[in-house]
Amino acid sequence: MRNKFVVGNWKLNGSLRANAELLAVLGQRIAAKDAKTCAVCVPAPYLAQVRELLVGKPIAWGGQDASRYEKGAYTGEIAAAMLAELDCRFCIVGHSERRALFGESDEVVAEKLGRVKSAGLVPIACVGETLAEREAGHTEQVVGRQLEAITAMHGAEALRGVVFAYEPVWAIGTGKTASPEQAQAVHRFLRGKLAEVDAGLAAQLPILYGGSVKAANAAELFAMPDIDGGLVGGASLVADEFVGIWSAL
Ligand code: PGA
Repeated sequence: MRNKFVVGNWKLNGSLRANAELLAVLGQRIAAKDAKTCAVCVPAPYLAQVRELLVGKPIAWGGQDASRYEKGAYTGEIAAAMLAELDCRFCIVGHSERRALFGESDEVVAEKLGRVKSAGLVPIACVGETLAEREAGHTEQVVGRQLEAITAMHGAEALRGVVFAYEPVWAIGTGKTASPEQAQAVHRFLRGKLAEVDAGLAAQLPILYGGSVKAANAAELFAMPDIDGGLVGGASLVADEFVGIWSAL
């Protein structure tokens, strides 16, 4: 059986005070469950605070991005090893906002994934198509290409220990969730692509869905056979919503 995950992606949100309030509630209401992981991926300046507030609680934490470089003269970058020092378990790589707004190519995402793995973190590797790509019938081609860039750079072995997230760009922050059937179809396709590389591994790799996941729609999404949890943006900032999503897992 595959592990299941609910991961919050706070994006560019938070303040010391708001984080403390949110995490106080999550700390009280999120109880450990077997083979299920709850985590929050927070802006890097808050990692030390989040670590202090969550240590010993059944909620892990992580970064939202890491440099493609290991170290050196790269002003503004954050190394995967620095995230590891702050006891991050996860780091998101290849979020569609990074790809679209910060020009990250499939190759840059693959480089970052390599750094994150080398630092001992679990990459949450995001793939997903835009609305135009979906309407043109290119969904499988796009997510397939995004996936292949990883194995092309690092080989099949790189897939081990990765958590994937399918996040249709048209469903992120728009309130338009992919229907459980639409999401399941892409998850199934992705698992098939992974199985072409390593069938045994493909059966074990978690694939999360992201894009307007809420307490109200989480259960029907998580009920799909190839959906192993959610990567949650906006709703991860609202304690009741996030707890509700965790309860649906
Ligand atoms: P959303 O974001 O839940 O606000 O749609 C999801 C994500 O971008 O990870």
